[in-house]
Amino acid sequence: MRASTRAGGDGTLGFPPGAGAGEGRWLFLKRFWEQRSAVASVSPSSRWLAHSAAEGIRPEDDPTVVELGAGTGPITAELVRALAGRGRLVVVERDAAFCAHLRRRFPGVEVVRADATGLDALLDDLGIGRVEHVVSALPMWWLPDAPRHRLLHAIGDRLDGTGSLHQVTTAPWLQGRLYRGLFQEVRFRFVPLNLPPGGVYQCRGWRGGGVTGGERR
Ligand SMILES: C[S@@+](CC[C@H](N)C(=O)[O-])C[C@H]1O[C@@H](n2cnc3c(N)ncnc32)[C@H](O)[C@@H]1O
Repeated sequence: MRASTRAGGDGTLGFPPGAGAGEGRWLFLKRFWEQRSAVASVSPSSRWLAHSAAEGIRPEDDPTVVELGAGTGPITAELVRALAGRGRLVVVERDAAFCAHLRRRFPGVEVVRADATGLDALLDDLGIGRVEHVVSALPMWWLPDAPRHRLLHAIGDRLDGTGSLHQVTTAPWLQGRLYRGLFQEVRFRFVPLNLPPGGVYQCRGWRGGGVTGGERR
C-alpha cells in the first residue's frame, strides 16, 4: 500500500507552484462524490486556508514536517513554499488517485500512500523519530474513537513537547475541546475565505492523556 518518492535534492523539489491545481478541483469533486466521509469536503482548501496551515514553519530550523490527508495538494504547495528546499517534508495520503495526482504535481516530494492512523509504524519505517510539525486536514471528527486516539497519541509523542500540530478544519466547533484537552497551548485562526469558511488549530505542548468519544466535541 505504501510507495515513496524522495526529494530530488536540487532544493526546488521540482514543481512549478500552482501547477495542477485546476485539474485537482475536478478530481477532488469526483473523489468527494465517491468517498464522502473520507474526503469530507466539496472543494480543496483555498490558498488562504492553505497559507494559514503553513504558518509558523521556519525553514532555517530544517524541520521535519509531516502532512496528513493531502488530497490534491493545496497545503502541500504552501508547505513546499514555506520550506524553500530545507528540512524534510513527508506527505501521507490514503487515496490512490490523490497520490497519483500529488506525484505528478510535486515530482520531488516524498508522497506516501498510507492510512494516517498507522502513523507511528509509518514514521518508524521511514526512519523518522522526532517531528517538528504535523499539518493535518484529515476529517478528524469522522474517525472512529480508537484510530483517532492512536493517531493523536502518535502525533503528540513525535512532537515531543515543542513541535506543533496544525489541524485544518471547516467544523471548528466539533474539535476545540478535543485539542484543548490534549495540548497546553491551542490557538485557532479563522479563515473566512474558504468554501465553506474554516480555520486552523495550532496546538503545542502535548499533555498526553486519553482521547475518548466524550472528548470529541
Ligand atoms: C478534507 S480533505 C483535505 C484535502 C487537502 N489537504 C485540502 O486541504 O484540500 C481530507 C483528505 O484526507 C484524506 N484522508 C482521509 N482519511 C485518511 C486517512 N485515514 N489516512 C490518510 N488520508 C486520509 C482524504 O483522502 C482527503 O484527501
